[in-house]
Amino acid sequence: MKNFWNELHKPIFILAPMDDVTDTVLRQVIARCGKPAVFFTEFTNVEGMFSKGERHVIQRLRYTEAERPLVAQIWGTRPENFFKAAKKLIDMGFDGIDLNMGCPASGVMQKGACSGLINNRPLAKETIDATKEGAAGLIPVSVKTRLGFRTIDFDWINFVLEQKLAALTVHARTVSEMSKVPAHWDKLKTVTDMRNTMKSTTLIIGNGDVKSLSDAKQKVAEAGADGAMIGRGIFDNPYLFSETIMLSDKPPEEKLHLLLEHLRLWQDTWGNTKHFPALRKFFKVYANGFPGAQELRMQLMETQNPEETEHIVASFLQSISS
Ligand SMILES: Cc1cc2nc3c(=O)[nH]c(=O)nc-3n(C[C@H](O)[C@H](O)[C@H](O)COP(=O)(O)O)c2cc1C
Repeated sequence: MKNFWNELHKPIFILAPMDDVTDTVLRQVIARCGKPAVFFTEFTNVEGMFSKGERHVIQRLRYTEAERPLVAQIWGTRPENFFKAAKKLIDMGFDGIDLNMGCPASGVMQKGACSGLINNRPLAKETIDATKEGAAGLIPVSVKTRLGFRTIDFDWINFVLEQKLAALTVHARTVSEMSKVPAHWDKLKTVTDMRNTMKSTTLIIGNGDVKSLSDAKQKVAEAGADGAMIGRGIFDNPYLFSETIMLSDKPPEEKLHLLLEHLRLWQDTWGNTKHFPALRKFFKVYANGFPGAQELRMQLMETQNPEETEHIVASFLQSISS
């Protein structure tokens, strides 16, 4: 098997999958600012991959070579679809497959999917086995989960570790905690101790509330983990994976040129095939921390397409250069 996980330098820093955020465009922006060791796609439904709406679902799996190594994250309810999905993902050229067993959204949980699998270990095992069978040893299979459902549950962690996965990412909260309490990084030490006692080769990646690479290094070292996955931290600093560069240190011109780069990539990639409001959440990242930023942000939020956004940014840039 070509297992890219074994070729990475530790600690391994990964951009977390975020639905409606980490598509190919955002991943390319992050790769240019400072590239993480691994990228994940947004979670993608295996039932949807073989449905009539397939074309829309497949948008989530679009990527460029700049985003490698890239892991496709999938979720769903029927093991036979995980089997088929694994085969398709290999054909599409993904470097790995990750199974979402942590999403707490009520819609998916009610179907018994994602974090619902924490309460249904027979189905969790069938899902993992079907995916591995589909992957046929050609690419590695990993899992991303939480510390437990209602309470911290090391039996669940033990169960997942027994599945001989390439990597296990643990978001250090329970499902019930959503994102409302600080992540329990101290509990990740128990996870890595369990892994070591079992003499398992599964890489342990910690996740939750990491703000910078120096923060990540400290947390990973204390937990004895192999790496950290970072999500929301990129909204404060898209350069986070560069280690040294901070967006907040940049002059307004540079912040806004990065916004323009993001916009152009969006246009080139999606044209008008993707819902424009999904782009608005990024405006506050770039239009921030300089005189006039708040007003500019308000104007940007009113725009209806990338062309209008570009026009407003260009006028602002002109106003500050004159
Ligand atoms: C907007 C948003 C979308 C998310 N979508 C996914 C997803 O598709 N798959 C997944 O495993 N986790 C998803 N997550 C959870 C993140 O991957 C991560 O576990 C969580 O944000 C904690 O890490 P952080 O504190 O570094 O952000 C999402 C989180 C956010 C904020």
